[in-house]
Amino acid sequence: MSHTPSWALALLLLPATLLAQTTPAEQIAGYAAQSGQAAQVAQGQQFFTTKHGKDWSCSSCHTAKPTVEGKHATTGKVIAPMAPAFNPQRFTDAAKTEKWFRRNCNDVVGRECSPAEKADVLSWLASLKS
Ligand code: HEC
Repeated sequence: MSHTPSWALALLLLPATLLAQTTPAEQIAGYAAQSGQAAQVAQGQQFFTTKHGKDWSCSSCHTAKPTVEGKHATTGKVIAPMAPAFNPQRFTDAAKTEKWFRRNCNDVVGRECSPAEKADVLSWLASLKS
């Protein structure tokens, strides 16, 4: 009988689980697929730079042109640029992206962002080249 032992399968799957490395393009595609519509760059900019009924917009900490460093609205702590062209570490770790979307959308919008909103924001950030 020839079948693959389960320990061998576990070894094969291990690296993929441990190193959840990804790219901005993969994350945009993933959120767009979840939302069932194409990412919209202009909507992403609009969403990021305007307030949603609370004190802050995303720009309050990340600036309205996130190719540059931001500054935390309350602690003053410097935040590295959000645009991947100016910060290659951005959106390379899906768990980190999700964690901060959850926290920041709750602060700014009072709820989690939808997959469409995430796809729009990421596509705008990824479009910023200068
Ligand atoms: C009160 C300040 C603050 C506001 C407002 C804010 N953020 Fe952030 N954001 C942070 C901090 C701090 C980090 C983590 C530090 C870092 O990644 O450089 C972060 C990180 C992120 C990340 C993780 C990026 C990555 O590298 O994967 C995303 C995505 C993000 N923010 C999106 C948003 C969006 C969308 C909004 C508006 C809905 C927003 N943020 C509003 C402070 C803020």
